[in-house]
Amino acid sequence: MTFKGRDIISIRDFSKEDILKVLDVAQKLERRPQPTLMKGAVMGSLFFEPSTRTRLSFTSAMEKLGGEVLGFEDAAVTSVQKGETLWDTIKMVNNYVDVIVQRHPVEGAAKLAANAADVPVINAGDGANQHPTQTLLDLFTIQKEKGKLDGLNIGFVGDLKYGRTVHSLCMAMSHFRTKLFFVAPEALQMPEYYLADLQKKKIPYVVTADLNKVAPQLDILYMTRIQKERFPDPIEYNRLKDSFHINRQLLKITKKDVRILHPLPRVNEIATDLDDTPNAAYFRQAANGVPIRQALIALVTGRAA
Ligand code: CP
Repeated sequence: MTFKGRDIISIRDFSKEDILKVLDVAQKLERRPQPTLMKGAVMGSLFFEPSTRTRLSFTSAMEKLGGEVLGFEDAAVTSVQKGETLWDTIKMVNNYVDVIVQRHPVEGAAKLAANAADVPVINAGDGANQHPTQTLLDLFTIQKEKGKLDGLNIGFVGDLKYGRTVHSLCMAMSHFRTKLFFVAPEALQMPEYYLADLQKKKIPYVVTADLNKVAPQLDILYMTRIQKERFPDPIEYNRLKDSFHINRQLLKITKKDVRILHPLPRVNEIATDLDDTPNAAYFRQAANGVPIRQALIALVTGRAA
């Protein structure tokens, strides 16, 4: 399926071929930069929720391709404060740009924006729902670090209930030969919906609260933050916030070449003593956001095929 004009809303909309296409274009753009590919085009960067990596890497991606960026990083400085709806906001921005990148705290906001816009909309995260561009950069990172996407044991650790990056990556990995390990306290385990989907696709998985038990089997350990902002009940957050801390000691029981990923930001779940080990891939992972987002921008605007 062609990418030109397509909205990027959920990783659910990606076939295996689509995923491999994006990774291929990203690899080519990384190897051979194209500083004029997006010349004359404008990206709307609409961030209704805080972001460091996603917003800045999208901006970097567009500017390194010779395009321009307009937008906002805080809805408080927009007419949303006067009561303007998301629908009307997108109807306006649609007139000014060639592609819209949006992050919003409400699940489904990306779909609504896509319905309002004529230009392609890229979901940069909608509530606890989906974060498809993060997933593509996670896959790009796994491919670069392990040299393959098939035949890997992947462990997700932390907030699996509200973690949109986990939900999206778990769906994407179901296109490949894999075994998944979901490590979380019961209250933060993977929603039943995702487990049922894995069963349907015959993807083997393990659900546990014991990281030490499964750590020796993992090729990829995907750590996540317990997300304070997603908890309806602060008492429940305080009960669960310190569920997992990993440090260099963990490497004594893991495979020598395990790779630790984290979408970031981290709080205290990964000790800094892991940062200078070859196993810590999370900063390389964040850097991979630029070529992946370049590929997506170029593909949906028809400047790459
Ligand atoms: N990984 C990620 O989405 O980071 P930001 O919230 O800083 O964009």
